[in-house]
Amino acid sequence: MTFTSRKFMVFATVASLALSAPVTYDTNSTVELESSLSQEVLGWSHATFPAIYQTCNETNARMLNAALKDTAEITAYGKSRLLNYGVDDVYYKRWFGNGSVFTVMGVFDQLMEASKGGMLMRCDDVDGLCAANPNYYAGHHRESAPAETVICDYFYNSRKPLSNICFEGTIVDVGPKHYAGIDMLHRYLHVPTMSMDGFIGEYAETLEEVVDYAQNNATFAVKNTDNYLYYLADVYSASVIPGGCLGDL
Ligand SMILES: *[C@@H]1O[C@H](CO)[C@@H](O)[C@H](O)[C@H]1NC(C)=O
Ligand SMILES: *[C@@H]1O[C@H](CO)[C@@H](O)[C@H](O)[C@H]1NC(C)=O
Ligand SMILES: *[C@@H]1O[C@H](CO)[C@@H](O)[C@H](O)[C@H]1NC(C)=O
Ligand SMILES: *[C@@H]1O[C@H](CO)[C@@H](O)[C@H](O)[C@H]1NC(C)=O
Repeated sequence: MTFTSRKFMVFATVASLALSAPVTYDTNSTVELESSLSQEVLGWSHATFPAIYQTCNETNARMLNAALKDTAEITAYGKSRLLNYGVDDVYYKRWFGNGSVFTVMGVFDQLMEASKGGMLMRCDDVDGLCAANPNYYAGHHRESAPAETVICDYFYNSRKPLSNICFEGTIVDVGPKHYAGIDMLHRYLHVPTMSMDGFIGEYAETLEEVVDYAQNNATFAVKNTDNYLYYLADVYSASVIPGGCLGDL
């Protein structure tokens, strides 16, 4: 199977080494990982990332950087799956039904390569919502500053690296946002410049509704955040672990 090609895995290993050096963020600019290796590895030639604000300490920033790196890895698998298997793919049908592949492809490109100038992740609980929702809010979008996302301390405890996939239960059991990189993509989609002012949104969040969209309302399947999150987790788990770990729908 070409999809889990050894080449990709080898490159991924090399990249994680190459990218582990600290990255200094200018809070007002879009950050690009500039290693030439990262291009091949991550499958994105011009990946962009939100800035990490100075209120995130080194420990936080390292974990957030790891999550951002995971966003690139998992969307690369998703995009590769689309390109190689098309719309008749069982994974595509499961999460997007007969929805437009142009929309899905465009969303992955948008998430990873669109300019993220001004987009900011901050760690200071500036609105007090982390403290108000302990052990529940892993982060939140700021309505008062739409380019900004607050990451709560609970994020670091509750959200796992992609390398943990299939370890703690099926995707259906733990939900795709259990994984920091996937949760981060969901946070991107709260930012209007990423969601195209809500073209992509949280129209439905329960698994039942997500599956129902794919089967009966594909126009909304390709507009619904959680359909993307499940698709990515499903494709990724099946790409890196034989048989994957979707669980029972
Ligand atoms: C970004 O720059 C603007 C002005 O150029 C400034 O007002 C704002 O505080 C800056 N934001 C951050 C997060 O540094
Ligand atoms: C960084 O901040 C976290 C809270 O988000 C705290 O638990 C941790 O001790 C801090 N690390 C350092 C090195 O200051
Ligand atoms: C998907 O299929 C349904 C009926 O099976 C049809 O009504 C709808 O137009 C199709 N949507 C697209 C985007 O082709
Ligand atoms: C599809 O979902 C949207 C949003 O939930 C809803 O407004 C619309 O009526 C649904 N369409 C169909 C055909 O079920």
